[in-house]
Amino acid sequence: MRNWTDLTWPAEDFSRVPFGVFQDRDVFEQEQERVFRGPIWCYLALEAEIPNPGDYKTAFIGDTSVVAVRGADGKISAFVNSCAHRGTQLVRSLHGNAKDFTCVYHHWCYDLEGNLIGVPFLRGLKGKGGMPRDFDLRAHGLKTLRVEGYNGVLFCSFHRGVEPLADYLDQPMRDYIDRLVPRPIEILGYMRQRIPGNWKLYLENIKDPNHAGLLHQFQTTFGLYRNTQQGASIFDKKRRHEIHYSTLDSDDPDDISEGYGGVSAFNAELKLQDTSVLDYEDEIGDNRAICMMSVFPNVMFQQLSNSLATRQVRPRSPGEFELYWTFFGFKDDSAKVREMRLRQINMVGPAGVVSMEDGEIGRLVQLGIRGERHRHSVLEMGGTGPIENQDTPLTEVPVRGFWRYYAELMGYTPMRSAAE
Ligand code: FES
Ligand SMILES: [Fe+2]
Repeated sequence: MRNWTDLTWPAEDFSRVPFGVFQDRDVFEQEQERVFRGPIWCYLALEAEIPNPGDYKTAFIGDTSVVAVRGADGKISAFVNSCAHRGTQLVRSLHGNAKDFTCVYHHWCYDLEGNLIGVPFLRGLKGKGGMPRDFDLRAHGLKTLRVEGYNGVLFCSFHRGVEPLADYLDQPMRDYIDRLVPRPIEILGYMRQRIPGNWKLYLENIKDPNHAGLLHQFQTTFGLYRNTQQGASIFDKKRRHEIHYSTLDSDDPDDISEGYGGVSAFNAELKLQDTSVLDYEDEIGDNRAICMMSVFPNVMFQQLSNSLATRQVRPRSPGEFELYWTFFGFKDDSAKVREMRLRQINMVGPAGVVSMEDGEIGRLVQLGIRGERHRHSVLEMGGTGPIENQDTPLTEVPVRGFWRYYAELMGYTPMRSAAE
């Protein structure tokens, strides 16, 4: 019988992953409870997206619609986007500003903290109808989530017993968030895309530095990123988050010809008419032109040259997720750097000359594994065994870090079937 517990994890180091985890409906349902509503923090939004009292933004945590809103006192709260009366979706815009939230169905009204403050015809009319005398508005507020921020980056949790956010992020992630957000943010815009693949394929993709120097011909050919460059992947204690960075111009022509000889990802014949998209201003002074940070389970923070973004992963079904991109810069950006950030956005998003390939890969893997739920992927690049920091891009060890923590939350035990 098809059951989320019958999938096998035959390698203790998570170098084998059953294809069923990307396809099964019951795995997806378990993920909602054990991962997204489990004892973890999920990325919610940037504080700069809702700067004023009443500003709100909707998001999805797992497949649950939620609303982040700044209250009259400036404090940010989040609630499930579902009316306490009969469950109707309460907020229908992606973002906006409100004094309160009124449900379209029977007009129950909530304040910015999610408290129920009004029910039309509460006492009926002329002694008829209405709610019972003992109906208590205070007992029928919206379902709220915990919210905490780190350096202007907001996370939320369904779990009341979750550890403090700073501990969850751990080091080196907190330092790298500080590196990513050194100054007050200005939001530049949004993109959204639907990818016909399982949401975890995207987490695998962003924790796989090796693919970036092979799949993305634009990057390898024009030197933005190559597997011959110096790069590293570093982890928190639990290996659930990852930071990968690479250093521009750190490879020499001999390494490039040796590494990419005969590899079609590198095509010296290709030339750009306008190379301005490749311009890079080393704002931090460490020459790391690429720094990608993934925080388990639903976000990647992107620094690709001067293009900065958060990418929120929003599962919709076992075979589909939405990727929600928020592009940002800083309030004090020079005109030159702002222009560079905007131009470089052409490399990312649904149609970006680099990122479109990651969307297509989600589709191709989902297609390729169909009907093969008991087969396993092979994750041995960079070595098997312990999951330790890596000083090369030629690795998929970070992907195993993701699976190890995912399996812990899901209750999967490697090396034998949990159903045995
Ligand atoms: S469902 Fe919202 S007021 Fe009835
Ligand atoms: Fe990629």
